Amino acid sequence: MITLASTPSAGQTWLSWFLVAAAVLVSGLLLAGPALRRRSPAAWWLLLGFPVTCLRVARTWRPLMAGCGLAVSRKAALTVVSGLLAHGAPPPHPRVPRRGGMRPTAHGFWFPVRLLPGQTPEDFVKAASAMAHDWRVHAVRVTTAEPGVVRVTATALDPLRQPRVPRQRGTGPLLRVVVGVLESGAPWVVDLRKIPHWLIVGATRSGKSTLINALVAGFAPQPVALVGIDCKGGMELSLYERRLSALATDRAQAVKLLAALMDLTSARMEVCRAARVRNIWGLPDEERPVPVVVIVDEIAELFLVANRSEKDEAQAAATGLVRLAQLGAALGVYLVVAGQRVGSDLGPGVTALRAQLGGRVCHRVTDSGTAEMALGDLNPDALEAAQTIPPDQAGTAVLASADGWERARSHLVPEERAEEIAAMYAHLTPYLPGLADAVGEPADGTAVHIERLDRDA
Ligand SMILES: Nc1ncnc2c1ncn2[C@@H]1O[C@H](COP(=O)(O)OP(=O)(O)OP(=O)(O)O)[C@@H](O)[C@H]1O
Ligand SMILES: [Mg+2]
Repeated sequence: MITLASTPSAGQTWLSWFLVAAAVLVSGLLLAGPALRRRSPAAWWLLLGFPVTCLRVARTWRPLMAGCGLAVSRKAALTVVSGLLAHGAPPPHPRVPRRGGMRPTAHGFWFPVRLLPGQTPEDFVKAASAMAHDWRVHAVRVTTAEPGVVRVTATALDPLRQPRVPRQRGTGPLLRVVVGVLESGAPWVVDLRKIPHWLIVGATRSGKSTLINALVAGFAPQPVALVGIDCKGGMELSLYERRLSALATDRAQAVKLLAALMDLTSARMEVCRAARVRNIWGLPDEERPVPVVVIVDEIAELFLVANRSEKDEAQAAATGLVRLAQLGAALGVYLVVAGQRVGSDLGPGVTALRAQLGGRVCHRVTDSGTAEMALGDLNPDALEAAQTIPPDQAGTAVLASADGWERARSHLVPEERAEEIAAMYAHLTPYLPGLADAVGEPADGTAVHIERLDRDA
């Protein structure tokens, strides 16, 4: 006689099939894991990396909080009562901050944490490095989400190691260029109409010139005058000479060029005053003068002095730059200043100039002084991030703004490519007589004689 009890029910059969399928899927994923990670890091992260990291975070949260001094002991009275009631059992665990659910992102995850009484977001910022080590992720950032709550954001895979280059269609809006990619995956945009002046610092071979290449390549097709000051004998910026309206290759020329730029700015000021507008963008299109982007490569060459006679020249250069920065933005003159080291030891003008350069880009630096000069008094984690950029990740930088800081990496625009683009758009080079006279006209006379270009030209 057949007993019905020994026959598996339909529910049990489905469960067995489900378990077998799950076991096959997990073993398949584990076996294919390394290949998947190489080919599609984002898919690997969502299918394997994220679930494993969730378990790791859950397991380490309490000891991590205790180890970083973020656990708070229970009230003494509670400990005594619990000891009496539990007949000498160990006292209750200290309280740890409550953690919200983990949300995956393309490159990592984030979760909110409610602070315990007496704790501040800075306490968690200090623990970020320990969190990254314990969870075996690339980096952890702590930001304030709302009063009493911090947001812990972890990056498991460094998106800047092999960044995807976002494509920019056409020339883009005037004075706006995509130069790279942000850590979040969004394009890194330099928009001179939003932030008119920029300071770019970094040790040698950290990626400053490559960022300048990206800027030149982006601005070359636009109706914009590019002006270069390269006191390393023009070694870097002369590559784009055909698209430059003027290039100064030593300090004496730089001083003359800056004076000519100041005259141009004063003339524009007169035009704006007569038209009763506050900046060149208030002028009618046909009267608006062409925007001028002044690129300075190696600022120290302008400031450093070897003897007394050079002192006056350096002083004149510093004053010229500071005045241009102060007055230029409204009058369509923008500054991009790059240097290996920017410190107050370069001269009194440096600090005043720095204060005027609102956009800050700090590539890999070897001394904390330059990072502090570039990034200002931001959180110490921003300074640490700039000093820990590996040398093999040239082009990676920390960007500072009023809202905080973020990491980014510029596109690799090789010199040859930037030179090619500059030559391709040489016919768009505006001729600005005062500037050309200050440093001498281009030898081959390629510059066209255009004094005004409107926005849609
Ligand atoms: N965004 C990037 N992506 C990949 N490689 C880069 C990037 N930026 C720079 N590099 C590499 O680093 C090298 C040095 O970069 P770059 O010439 O821009 O440095 P630099 O900071 O201008 O140095 P120096 O102070 O000596 O002029 C480049 O030739 C290139 O190979
Ligand atoms: Mg360089």
